[in-house]
Amino acid sequence: MPQKLLVLRNCGLIDPHDVDSYLARGGFEALRRVQSSMTPAQVIEEVKRSGLRGRGGGGFPTGLKWEQTAQSPGERKYIICNASEGEVGAFKDRYILERDPFSLIEGMVIAGYAVGAHQAYVYLRSEYAYLVSLLMDAIGRVEQKGLLDIAGHPFEIELRVGAGGYVCGEETAMMESLEGRRGEPRVRPPFPPSQGLLGFPTLINNVETLMNIPWIVANGGDRFSAMGTPQSKGTKVFSVSGDVKRPGVYELELGSSLRELVEELALARDIKMVQVGGASGRIVPADKMDVSLSYETVLGPGPVIVFDRSRDVVDMVWRTMEFFAEESCGKCAPCREGTQAMMETLVRIADGKGVRKDLKSLEELSNAMMLTSSCGLGQAAPFPVVDSLRYFSHEYEAHISA
Ligand SMILES: Cc1cc2nc3c(=O)[nH]c(=O)nc-3n(C[C@H](O)[C@H](O)[C@H](O)COP(=O)(O)O)c2cc1C
Ligand code: SF4
Repeated sequence: MPQKLLVLRNCGLIDPHDVDSYLARGGFEALRRVQSSMTPAQVIEEVKRSGLRGRGGGGFPTGLKWEQTAQSPGERKYIICNASEGEVGAFKDRYILERDPFSLIEGMVIAGYAVGAHQAYVYLRSEYAYLVSLLMDAIGRVEQKGLLDIAGHPFEIELRVGAGGYVCGEETAMMESLEGRRGEPRVRPPFPPSQGLLGFPTLINNVETLMNIPWIVANGGDRFSAMGTPQSKGTKVFSVSGDVKRPGVYELELGSSLRELVEELALARDIKMVQVGGASGRIVPADKMDVSLSYETVLGPGPVIVFDRSRDVVDMVWRTMEFFAEESCGKCAPCREGTQAMMETLVRIADGKGVRKDLKSLEELSNAMMLTSSCGLGQAAPFPVVDSLRYFSHEYEAHISA
């Protein structure tokens, strides 16, 4: 199946330093339409009709989140674009920001109009500090055209660069970081649409989610929802890496098969398994590659990492757990202690010093962490362990009896 380019439609075809090249391809027509002939409620209705769901990993219905933010009382409201992109193997937000910053800006202004916010932040991971000048330049050019404006009031977009924590991609930790504190997740509820940044209603969306908005407004929610599967509408952008001949960023209609993405587009051969969704994603073994990519099956925020038959599963899993042990913020015990204990057990098994009952403890610890960790990091950290034990227990056994 060929790619379907909605979010990537301008990439490589416009000059990110030239807003006129964006305007020449229909840029800002959606915003003009919104401002001239749609009420905020009508914009939200269109987004709801599209069926768009959050592309940051959680898959929460975007229109519903916008509606909740719009309906929450507050003398001020904020928008945050999540450009933290900390997931292992993730590089699609960076790719689209580099090539088409204008679609993001247009999506953010439309979101501001819909929910009643005049201030927005783009939160970039520290490694993306190099994008600041490009984004500042793009914001300035849009402002010069008089397009950074909602009903005569300026719409401000500020950039913030994080200090390097994976957990700061979690929306409440991100708000802590934006408020100048250590990036640790907050207890939820309250959720950001009712009480977010500085206690005000806040809309937080991923880069790709917001970049879908101009297309949806310009073409209509119904056209968007005609693509995909019953629960997964539109397209998805993936960053494919690992043992492939053609690593890169691809956009496919949701419901396309994993095999099409990794074998036909990225030219992977001799596959052992694919990690869909990065370190906190799910492992798909080679014999299940016909699975479709959707919220109903397997998806995540976009990273797709391919491992060929030369790779050792236990080796890959302990390195992944080492990442989680390092990135755990330490606020809650199941994650702080659990990631460390799992890593130590996995290293022991990888070194040939494991015993059979280690496998049982890994399973028990995984269940406890998934049930009791307070945020998505600790809840998802056991996925590589659970999935690899399910599909590759023979490799663990081989290490133990070696
Ligand atoms: C540990 C952790 C890391 C996350 N990192 C990111 C990230 O880098 N980018 C992102 O968009 N969402 C990330 N999320 C999801 C956000 O918390 C949030 O759901 C998302 O930004 C909402 O936007 P969306 O509805 O457009 O997906 C992360 C969640 C967790 C638990
Ligand atoms: S699950 Fe981990 S990252 Fe999340 S709050 Fe607990 S310790 Fe911090």
